[in-house]
Amino acid sequence: MLCKDIHSALSPILARYESDQICYVVDKNCATLPTRLRLIQGENSLLLVVQESRKSLETVQQIWDFLFEHDITRHGLLVAIGGGVLTDMAGFAAATYKRGIDHVNIPTTLLAMIDASSGGKTGFNYHGLKNSIGAFYPPVETIICPAWLESLPPHEFLSGYAEMLKTGLLNTKLWPQLLRYDLDTMDIPALTPLIEQCVGVKERIVAADPKEEGLRKALNLGHTFGHALEEILMDNSQFTMHNAQLAVLPHGYAVLYGLIAELYLSVIKLHCSKEPLHQLTQIMLHYYGKPQCKCSDRDALIRLMQQDKKNERTAEINCTLIRSVGSPVLNQTITPEEANEAWEYLFSL
Ligand code: GLY
Repeated sequence: MLCKDIHSALSPILARYESDQICYVVDKNCATLPTRLRLIQGENSLLLVVQESRKSLETVQQIWDFLFEHDITRHGLLVAIGGGVLTDMAGFAAATYKRGIDHVNIPTTLLAMIDASSGGKTGFNYHGLKNSIGAFYPPVETIICPAWLESLPPHEFLSGYAEMLKTGLLNTKLWPQLLRYDLDTMDIPALTPLIEQCVGVKERIVAADPKEEGLRKALNLGHTFGHALEEILMDNSQFTMHNAQLAVLPHGYAVLYGLIAELYLSVIKLHCSKEPLHQLTQIMLHYYGKPQCKCSDRDALIRLMQQDKKNERTAEINCTLIRSVGSPVLNQTITPEEANEAWEYLFSL
């Protein structure tokens, strides 16, 4: 649900649980939020501040340990507050602790509002592969407060906007509205109805196919190439985005680069018009910049794509493409040569 005031949105949910069974798991960047919002009071509040900014087993373990230490029963509630990395790990801890306890997501980034915090995908990265351990486990509620985005750093705003663009490519009404939005202003009141529409598009897809057996694969547009890029850059990388020094490539940037590669393949394999590819390329060049690596090791990228959990068969590259805006085509098999050509195109821009 979208709301202006977290306190009044959360209170009726909290009322359903014993107060000593409500645990807050909060990202370090918003450690003081639960107190400032009067969600918790007093020293006995169950608050775990997570320092880690990657999705690791160690952090999931830390959350499990915290739940055990505080004797949380199967009737407890975990309230996750943070970006998608935090809500994915907290959701997985909730899914697996004592075979599952309730959780609520309160996303604080645009990326998490649009994508990560709804739809029930939870998990963490393992063996260098994105979200390779996880579970479908929907939260009892996702509470979205767009006003929080006023202070979001530009690279985080753009990272979330890339997932909005992906959603727009799946919906003919939304795509032109997203193209008209003035990214120079990053104006939140103008963005709010677009957030609402993106969340609505995702909710309708997830309701029709919660376990990604068919239609939900449409939401993976841009992610086959995007994930490979994230994985190859997972360790020992440094990125400069809008004056911020980052240790990981923001997910939305990877998705945007992946969308360009996959729109290129949509043009050559499904005769999609070149217009959305050109529109997205202009947005990339103007706001996101080119990928900050040339990734000469194409074989490694292609190997990573062959290991993607979205593939139906081992060593086959499976992708969602589009025939036109609003018409996704699922389960497209990509040959290594086609994948190479799409990477070539992206890195030549
Ligand atoms: N992130 C795509 C999905 O939730 O299915």
